[in-house]
Amino acid sequence: MNSPEGKIFYFKVAKKDAQELINFIGRFYPNDKILNDRYKILKEGNNIFFPIKISQKQLKDLKKKGNKMQIKIIKKYGYKKKDYKHKNLEEALEDKIPEKSFDLIPKSYDIIGDIAILEFNEIERLRDIEKIKKKISMAVIEVNKNVKTVYEKIGKVSGDYRTRELKFLMGTKKSETIHRENNCQFKLDIEKTFFTPRLINERRKISHSNIRKFETIVDLFAGVGPFSVQIAKLHNVKIYAFDKNPHAYNYMKENLQLNDIRGEIYPFNMDVSNLIKPHNKIGTKLKNKVNRVIMNLPEHASDFLDIACHLIREKGGIIHFYLFSEKPNTIKKARNKFQEKIEGFNYYIDEITRAEIVKSYSPKSNMIVIDAFIRKNQTHLMRNFK
Ligand SMILES: C[S@@+](CC[C@H](N)C(=O)[O-])C[C@H]1O[C@@H](n2cnc3c(N)ncnc32)[C@H](O)[C@@H]1O
Repeated sequence: MNSPEGKIFYFKVAKKDAQELINFIGRFYPNDKILNDRYKILKEGNNIFFPIKISQKQLKDLKKKGNKMQIKIIKKYGYKKKDYKHKNLEEALEDKIPEKSFDLIPKSYDIIGDIAILEFNEIERLRDIEKIKKKISMAVIEVNKNVKTVYEKIGKVSGDYRTRELKFLMGTKKSETIHRENNCQFKLDIEKTFFTPRLINERRKISHSNIRKFETIVDLFAGVGPFSVQIAKLHNVKIYAFDKNPHAYNYMKENLQLNDIRGEIYPFNMDVSNLIKPHNKIGTKLKNKVNRVIMNLPEHASDFLDIACHLIREKGGIIHFYLFSEKPNTIKKARNKFQEKIEGFNYYIDEITRAEIVKSYSPKSNMIVIDAFIRKNQTHLMRNFK
């Protein structure tokens, strides 16, 4: 037996009463987890000791009821189970960090491949904060068997490449990983490229939407390729995928090889503003030929609707438009902005098939998606016709 780790509470019962005790727990505490399954059950002589986890109130209550039933509650040294897997961070950190630093434990965190990325609440005047962060990251590795590396978010997503400053905290020192999502795999570097696992449902929705055979699709801000790859995995389509970040472009190229895709993807490392320039080869080739445009650059996508309108067929096409919108009425504001912008480029909304909140972005704003079928303004077409 391993050495004891401090005193804990036990139910002490005679072996012959053990079953009665189990019944007792089930009867009085059907919904509470009274047994402390981190510790071993002990047998000594004719007695069995069941480790329990109880509040002061429960303890008082139990002492009354337990005494009536000849069940004793005692405190003695406990022995942790060797193979015990902690269920969450709080539990793993229970006796490792001071109680007042529990507010520092992140409520949720992102896992990209085998790398966890934590964001800590700022707690003023907490001593040894860096040491506590290390202990929390150790617990993240302990609780998540696939996590090998832990980073901390330092800054906001920023710059043209939409990356953020990260600080290495614990585990294998590396920033490249392979993330699995919706039956696809994506190799990426969390420091050099943008990637968020929080769009998993969004990418699923788009790739499972009503995409027709042989569509021409443009992914304007493709990153390492998650939208393009997931669509091309399921559909026989042609996708032109752009990103100005050379690292994202290189990973996207690798990801085309990593995944078994049905459609064709043509990756480009360029700034999509160039697509509208008169002598841009690919921009000229795709002008008014595109059935669908994906615009996943929520901070600035509205500045690129001229590009989308340049590409989309005059007879009509679909735009998947993502943007951040200020509360309140985030969806309505986003729709108005989208409509106002495309009208400026002689297009109008034929139908909005979806307008909804993708996720909360900040206390003041949401990320919104608008899926819209847009067409070139008829009066304009008539003028051209005459
Ligand atoms: C928010 S990320 C989205 C990436 C990807 N769609 C995803 O879901 O992971 C936006 C991407 O757009 C790229 N980007 C930003 N401005 C661009 C531009 N003008 N032309 C091409 N790519 C651009 C950034 O490098 C970044 O990879």
